[in-house]
Amino acid sequence: MLKVENLDKTFRTAAGDVHAVQNVSFEAKDGEVVAILGASGSGKSTLLSLLGLLDAPDRGSIDIDGTQLAILDSAGRTRYRSSQVGFVFQQFNLIPNLNARENIKLALEFAHWPKDSRDQRANELLAMVGLDESKADRRPSKLSGGEQQRVAIARAFAAQPHLILADEPTGSLDKATGQKIVDLLREIASTQNATVLVVTHDEKIAKQADRRFEIEDGALKEIA
Ligand SMILES: Nc1ncnc2c1ncn2[C@@H]1O[C@H](COP(=O)(O)OP(=O)(O)O)[C@@H](O)[C@H]1O
Ligand SMILES: [Mg+2]
Repeated sequence: MLKVENLDKTFRTAAGDVHAVQNVSFEAKDGEVVAILGASGSGKSTLLSLLGLLDAPDRGSIDIDGTQLAILDSAGRTRYRSSQVGFVFQQFNLIPNLNARENIKLALEFAHWPKDSRDQRANELLAMVGLDESKADRRPSKLSGGEQQRVAIARAFAAQPHLILADEPTGSLDKATGQKIVDLLREIASTQNATVLVVTHDEKIAKQADRRFEIEDGALKEIA
């Protein structure tokens, strides 16, 4: 369960203050897929950065499964980023000189997953995202965009997080491949009982989410 209250983030720039996130409050349940729509520059990525503890809010609170993120110390924040939240990006962001399995195992290492079960866990994850065994030893450049995003999803779910933050995960994929990636995210959200926040420009994808929000100039509102 994710509970966000009165979140604010302002960037102070030479050109003036940018209110990237303004008084944002919402809740999302485990297993729920939530779409966030909004124009370029409306604050979508900033909101995800705050939820992923990549950046700190000026005001407001984020509560996950009863834990207030603001009270975490440095070690707690690192633990949160490596094992309680998973990130999926438009450009996949896999490590180019590691193969698919190694990319997943690195996430398990960061999350302090027991060393002797990382291979087994990586294989489980590869199967979960439907990536053929024969692709596991390939580097990202030898995989299609859709396959790379499957590896990124496996990596995001590696340490069994309760929250997945996906920033335009279909933005670099053709429509049919993008649809398969969304189907996969929905299926895994449900089987892993995780909350998935998906930023998208695509109305058709947003319609498949359990709930939809729109962000405009940093302000979030739920839409039908
Ligand atoms: N680090 C930063 N410093 C200054 N301004 C920023 C920074 N990050 C984002 N912004 C500004 O905040 C606003 C929201 O950006 P962003 O969250 O990236 O939007 P979106 O992801 O919806 O395109 C934009 O006006 C952007 O220029
Ligand atoms: Mg963005």
